Amino acid sequence: MSCAGLYEAALEHSHHEVAAVPAALAETTKMVCPNSGMSPAGCHSKLIVGGLALVGIGAAIGYFACKKASCCSSRVNKKIRLGEGKVADTVDVEDIGEKKAFCRCWKSEKWPYCDGTHGKHNKETGDNLGPLIVKKKE
Ligand code: FES
Repeated sequence: MSCAGLYEAALEHSHHEVAAVPAALAETTKMVCPNSGMSPAGCHSKLIVGGLALVGIGAAIGYFACKKASCCSSRVNKKIRLGEGKVADTVDVEDIGEKKAFCRCWKSEKWPYCDGTHGKHNKETGDNLGPLIVKKKE
């Protein structure tokens, strides 16, 4: 068979396929939902409701997983005595002297005292953290 003959045969075959589509669609509208006897419309509604329920369940799981992940990543203390349940310190008043600056940014290498690291944090993030300064009355 020549190329032209092959082309014409393919074209003829595709016409038969295209003509068969409306008939196939007409057949599907007569179909019933398997094992239920429901019409296609009822079957589709059931599928849509089931699909929406699955999407809702997926969204809820995603929301709670994200909420749990963000709770841990937003912790303030990322370096100071992380193995302890609570970081609490006691400083004797006599040891304060005239003035001491206590860290409130949780980044100082001299915890609980401020070492100025808050300045770097503020520059990088636009934050405005600073120490608690305790001093004797003048
Ligand atoms: S280093 Fe933390 S407040 Fe200064």
